[in-house]
Amino acid sequence: PQNLPLKGKQVIVSAGPTLERIDPVRYLSNFSSGKMGYAMAEAARDLGAAVTLVHGPVALPDPSGMTVIAIESAEQMLEAILSRYDAADYVIKAAAVADYRPKQAAQQKVKKQQGDTQMELERTPDILATLGAQKTHQLLIGFAAETNDVETYALDKLARKNADYIIANDVSKTDRGFGADQNIVTLYGHDFVQHFPSTSKRALAMQLLETIIAQSGVAK
Ligand code: PMT
Repeated sequence: PQNLPLKGKQVIVSAGPTLERIDPVRYLSNFSSGKMGYAMAEAARDLGAAVTLVHGPVALPDPSGMTVIAIESAEQMLEAILSRYDAADYVIKAAAVADYRPKQAAQQKVKKQQGDTQMELERTPDILATLGAQKTHQLLIGFAAETNDVETYALDKLARKNADYIIANDVSKTDRGFGADQNIVTLYGHDFVQHFPSTSKRALAMQLLETIIAQSGVAK
């Protein structure tokens, strides 16, 4: 039917932060609430898709009518998505994935020492770039959270990570981005750009998906 353009399509959405363990009681993470990713997942469901939501630790209830997979780390998020990637038609990466993790998570609680300390960090896998490198038929939609030079970095991510669209948000302000109920974004495609003024994340998610579907056609 006309109002269910994603009927028969498989959509994977990632949402929320990742959590990278330092020791049994400490971790590195970020302020992503999961709201933007959950809104994207719900919009895809409402457009008829079979949705898998892969999320890091958030305080939101599981949305109905989709498969929900809770993970903790960037590594686990990569595994959960990669194992379902072949069957996917769309992948939407709204998660705020940690870029670094402690090089070695301690098995026991790290004791405090006299004076300052340092922690060695290593890069986590870049999930979006990995998906971009392995892309066959999937439409790959990333986000870009920036505090400055939003357009430059968004276009760089579009090209470098082999994404089809990047949804860029300015996260230097408190009325949008991390934690807020509304967002202000710019959608960048290859030879396509559209600005979306301040809107609730729920309404925005629907507008973004409808725009992407209208632009790219429904994936075969
Ligand atoms: O969760 P909310 O509180 O609602 O906030 C929403 C949001 C601000 C988190 C969301 O709108 C957003 O911008 N998500 C992406 C945040 C981010 O990590 O941006 P980035 O510019 O660091 O990463 C770019 C893209 O690469 C993202 O699609 C990210 O999921 C992906 N990435 C990043 C690092 C990594 N190791 N693997 C990745 O896949």
